[in-house]
Amino acid sequence: MKYNIAVLFGGESVEHEVSIISAHQAMAALDSEKYNVIPVYISKDRKLFCSEQLFDMNIYRNLNELKNRVPQVYFVADQNKVILRPVKSGFFGPKDLATIDVAIPVMHGTNGEDGTIQGFLEMYKLPYAGCDLIAAAVGQDKVIQKHTLENSGLPVTNWFWFYGREIDTKKDEILNQAQRIGYPLILKPACTGSSVGINIAHNEEEYLWAFEEAARYDSKVITEKVVRPMREINCSVLGEPTDAVTSVLEEVFHGEDSEILDFHDKYEQGNSKGAKAQTGAVKSSAGMVSTSRKVNPELPEGVAEEIRHLALETFRTLGASGVCRIDFLMDAESNQVFVNEINTIPGSLAYYLWSDAGIPFPQLMDKLVELALERDRRRQNMIFSYDTDLLKNYSEPSGAKGAKR
Ligand SMILES: Nc1ncnc2c1ncn2[C@@H]1O[C@H](COP(=O)(O)OP(=O)(O)O)[C@@H](O)[C@H]1O
Ligand SMILES: [Mg+2]
Repeated sequence: MKYNIAVLFGGESVEHEVSIISAHQAMAALDSEKYNVIPVYISKDRKLFCSEQLFDMNIYRNLNELKNRVPQVYFVADQNKVILRPVKSGFFGPKDLATIDVAIPVMHGTNGEDGTIQGFLEMYKLPYAGCDLIAAAVGQDKVIQKHTLENSGLPVTNWFWFYGREIDTKKDEILNQAQRIGYPLILKPACTGSSVGINIAHNEEEYLWAFEEAARYDSKVITEKVVRPMREINCSVLGEPTDAVTSVLEEVFHGEDSEILDFHDKYEQGNSKGAKAQTGAVKSSAGMVSTSRKVNPELPEGVAEEIRHLALETFRTLGASGVCRIDFLMDAESNQVFVNEINTIPGSLAYYLWSDAGIPFPQLMDKLVELALERDRRRQNMIFSYDTDLLKNYSEPSGAKGAKR
């Protein structure tokens, strides 16, 4: 039996376009002998679309036109199945497009990587690949994530956070905390991605500007000590919290004209600056593969092992599953390593780190499907509800009609 695999991508996120690229790479890697691949595109206004046309990258050149050409669909839970049904039904009623066995969200950032789509899939009890709702949400919110990692003894940079709105009422307190850590500082919105809204401040004036800027993207603003001189090392982890493996490591480089790895560095560098060329079936577009990187970088003795260990601990602590990428900052002077963040749905699903570790992309996709089904099987044995006599014996207290407690 072939599994019907729905690959979900797009979504209301600044990484919408990157997600389209990652999803196409993933769909090309799903073995057509084992799976029927069903592309499900989520537009920026959160509508779902499905048809064979979505395999063609040309259709994304005009996203508004796409919405007129491809049928809009919705999920229906019918008996024990989840069905994709067109919104516009024909003369003889709706003609279902497909039954879904497993969903693979390949969505980056808000409304996709942050628990939103995971919660949507949970409502349908549909097995899905990658982190569950909680891990995805914690992985997206840098404030909750840092608290969780710090409390578990994982090394993070010196940091603090405030709500963006508090700059009006707590300005002195915020500036004092900034002063205590010492400039330069890096300011980030709690929940974006792709370096959007992130800036470095070298003094108070720049700090206030960067704070306002970060507050435009999220209600919470993080302030962190800048690690400098710094090297950025990433490691992918594959598995489930208690049973996972690490990939090869990569070092990523930012352009000389910016102090951080920005959107351009991540996705738009092409194969200039020695970026790794793609291999295998997925040659159409680059996505995260464009980043200027070095696989298996030379590191001071013991650092690679330390990073691998910290990657597994981070994955476990955050309750992650599937394929994630955990990013580290290394102080190039002291060799001290900090966990920067987890990416629970990394660009290009970090496949390039696995092909170098001996797991080709199709095998990585098999593993994601397997893990999704395995988690679903385990959940079926858990108790989520039980029958009670609570309502049978309930009698409304007098005078409390309609009262809300
Ligand atoms: N504490 C830090 N010191 C120096 N550079 C940093 C620090 N934190 C982040 N950066 C730089 O900013 C980039 C984006 O920050 P990150 O926390 O990874 O946000 P995003 O979720 O947008 O990727 C990093 O890849 C790195 O280049
Ligand atoms: Mg990052």
